[in-house]
Amino acid sequence: MTEVFDSLRKEIEAESLDSADAVDSFRIRYLSKKQGKITDLMKGIKDVSPGERGTYGQGVNELKTLANAKIKDAKTKLGSSASDQRDIDLSLPGRAPKMGSLHPITQTRHLINRVFESYGFTVEEGPEIEDDWHNFSALNFPADHPARDMQDTFFIEPTDLEHGGIMLRTHTSPVQIRTMKDGEPPFRIIAPGRVYRNESISYKSYCLFHQVEGLFVDEGVTMADLKQILHAFAQTIFGDDVQMRFRPSFFPFTEPSAEVDIWWNDESLPGGGRWLEILGCGMVHPNVLEAVDIDSEKYTGYAFGMGIDRIAMLRYGIDDIRILFENDERFLDQFA
Ligand code: PHE
Repeated sequence: MTEVFDSLRKEIEAESLDSADAVDSFRIRYLSKKQGKITDLMKGIKDVSPGERGTYGQGVNELKTLANAKIKDAKTKLGSSASDQRDIDLSLPGRAPKMGSLHPITQTRHLINRVFESYGFTVEEGPEIEDDWHNFSALNFPADHPARDMQDTFFIEPTDLEHGGIMLRTHTSPVQIRTMKDGEPPFRIIAPGRVYRNESISYKSYCLFHQVEGLFVDEGVTMADLKQILHAFAQTIFGDDVQMRFRPSFFPFTEPSAEVDIWWNDESLPGGGRWLEILGCGMVHPNVLEAVDIDSEKYTGYAFGMGIDRIAMLRYGIDDIRILFENDERFLDQFA
């Protein structure tokens, strides 16, 4: 028995603990609960005859004290609590935390909001799940009218003629209805948000995109006011010499209606550029005003709806809308 203790003592004394790693493996070899040599000896005490257990226990304890003292010694020599610090180089420069950035859509939405806020518009919001009345009927889409097919709809509860349906909003125009229903004219609001359409997905259309609705209702509002505000907007976003045109169009909720294009200069295009549609607009249809109990003899208004994604793509030179929804860091990092 004593030979075992003696040889283990010699073995321990011969160990040289000259690095944090050496200290660690020493501790494991002799003291770890599972495989330590001293621990094993301690476990063996049950096989020792009762009369010898006292000396045996004492012998094991001496080895343990010896091993612990050696570890303590080595740690002091290597610097305090060497094993905790072995990977730390205090002279290394710090790691910069990775900063997030605003999505290009968010940046563009903020920009659009700022422009219209500077003209006295306030920002409104509405739900993304809408009922038939707000999304279609109150906006002068007759039931069963083909105009409803202009916007392929994701239904949550299908439309039946008696009760209407529940759907993901196909445009931000229902916020016009909610705003006018809840207040008294004049109204001067914009309403940015997500909209959904059941379209086939390609580089230029996605099932989800973003719009900003605009609405101005007061006494004596005319189409000239609409043109003036949209021109000022386009100048702020695309530069003072922006060229824009109003093209006659159709929306059930505006009369007359127009689509607005801007001339997009691009050397790579034949002829130096092309007209790009950026929004739809028009004078609020009297039926819409009447649907929300506003006297259409007294009040007139204009409304517009523009695609934020389209404007972001123009500003940043993005040619595939799908990349806006992929959350690829390699893309997003470029907008920090
Ligand atoms: N809601 C229309 C669309 O999504 C855009 C629009 C808004 C047109 C307001 C006229 C007035 O296509």
